[in-house]
Amino acid sequence: MDYLLGLDIGTSGVKGILVSTAGQVVKSRTEYYQLNTPHPGWTEQNPADWWEGTTNVIKYLLANSGVSAEEIKGVSFSGQMHSSVFLDQGMEVIRPAILWSDTRTSKQCQDIYQRVGGLEKLIKLVSNPALEGFTAPKVLWLQQNEPENYQRVKMILLPKDYIRYRLTGEVQIDRSDGAGTIMMDIRQGSWSVDLLDRLGIERDLLPPLVNSTAIVGEVSRAAARTCGLKVGTPVVAGGADNACGAVGSGIIKEGRVMVSIGTSGVVVAQVEKPLADPKGRLHLFNHAVPENWYMMGVMLSAGMSFSWLKENLFADQYDYQHLNLLAAEAESGSEGLLFLPYLYGERTPHADANARGVFFGISGNHQQGHLVRSVMEGVSFGLRDSLELIKEQDIKINEIRAIGGGAKSKVWQQILADVFGQEIKLLKIEEGPALGAAMIAGVGVGVFKDFSEAEQGIIQVSQSITPNEEKRDYYNQLFALYQNLYQSLKDDFKKLT
Ligand code: XUL
Repeated sequence: MDYLLGLDIGTSGVKGILVSTAGQVVKSRTEYYQLNTPHPGWTEQNPADWWEGTTNVIKYLLANSGVSAEEIKGVSFSGQMHSSVFLDQGMEVIRPAILWSDTRTSKQCQDIYQRVGGLEKLIKLVSNPALEGFTAPKVLWLQQNEPENYQRVKMILLPKDYIRYRLTGEVQIDRSDGAGTIMMDIRQGSWSVDLLDRLGIERDLLPPLVNSTAIVGEVSRAAARTCGLKVGTPVVAGGADNACGAVGSGIIKEGRVMVSIGTSGVVVAQVEKPLADPKGRLHLFNHAVPENWYMMGVMLSAGMSFSWLKENLFADQYDYQHLNLLAAEAESGSEGLLFLPYLYGERTPHADANARGVFFGISGNHQQGHLVRSVMEGVSFGLRDSLELIKEQDIKINEIRAIGGGAKSKVWQQILADVFGQEIKLLKIEEGPALGAAMIAGVGVGVFKDFSEAEQGIIQVSQSITPNEEKRDYYNQLFALYQNLYQSLKDDFKKLT
């Protein structure tokens, strides 16, 4: 039998998955690593931890799946987007990677607008606004704040590209991750020399761009010794975690939309033409499916709001099951309690690093269940914000598929369908971006003709959640109030910080 290996270099850990070429998920394994916050708003990780986690995952899978290294026909990757790995002349890591969730770069975002000539011009060049999480502002931050480190930089990679380099000795970046650096012209699929010149970033610091499905190298002798894969195993470029998550949920055709409630929350719609939101509220990036793109809204604290509530408001005294029970017992609308999920600022629809979380309308009648439910509702309203923006772009939506930890909760699934006022589909196998990476490996090495063939047998809808018609008007009214709240508070958020 032949198998494919998908590896997702995520923020909390690295997940590996072995899939047979017949579409069977044989085994998966996650190894966790540390997230460092040396200052409030900063998030960093050590690339060496990603590599250690990756080799441990591969060793575990080979030892526990019954699959031998010879049977693995291709390896590919998914990875956290935007996070920057700075490497020196000898390809050694210069400083910890600055992650997508790090918000230290507000000044550098303003610098970018200034050097380029405003939002409209930037969107013309790279189809996206300058946001704290993206890579280009991190490069400027290093230039301005750690010039001695910047002097030593000879190569900038993203997490999965660094791991691929450790596996093969070759450097590349695929276009789905290239797009998220906001240094790439996403229509042409090439680095934007115009932008790089304006930012004073040398073109040589960036690796060659390739398609996600390109075979870009093979497992080296040194890497094979460390992780147990066979020397010469073909390695396929892979993609950004949201692009891979989309592939792994069958978002490979226009009309299908993915809603994911993980640490962050995303709404992704595949598009066949790269038409950017003129106001830059949605991201537009290259898909892992070559010659396709996706529009995406990103909430920074979706599942994160829920785990914050569990750990801090309830001091971890209840498990997820009990919290779900409490939420199910509370009435829809949480009896007038609204939650704004902006714990660490927000990206979509308000690109605002100053925004903060709010419980609005607390009364003496509210109990624990109302708090839990209002967090689920607030996150769902935040996701609806992104969905509404996608609808504004005139993108057709035939089907919405919900994935991620939050979407495993029955109460939350129903809340999402009710808040959207639309049917939500759930998937039989939900292995997220790692599964997408394995499918990309299969398309890359030619086991599958294309992504339509890859999804057959692997991706199946298991259930539909229908919205409750009676609640539609009520949730529409609450959504209007939710949207108003940010407008009323945004100046005060600024004063508060
Ligand atoms: C997307 C984003 C996050 C990360 C999570 O723009 O920043 O979803 O990709 O890994």
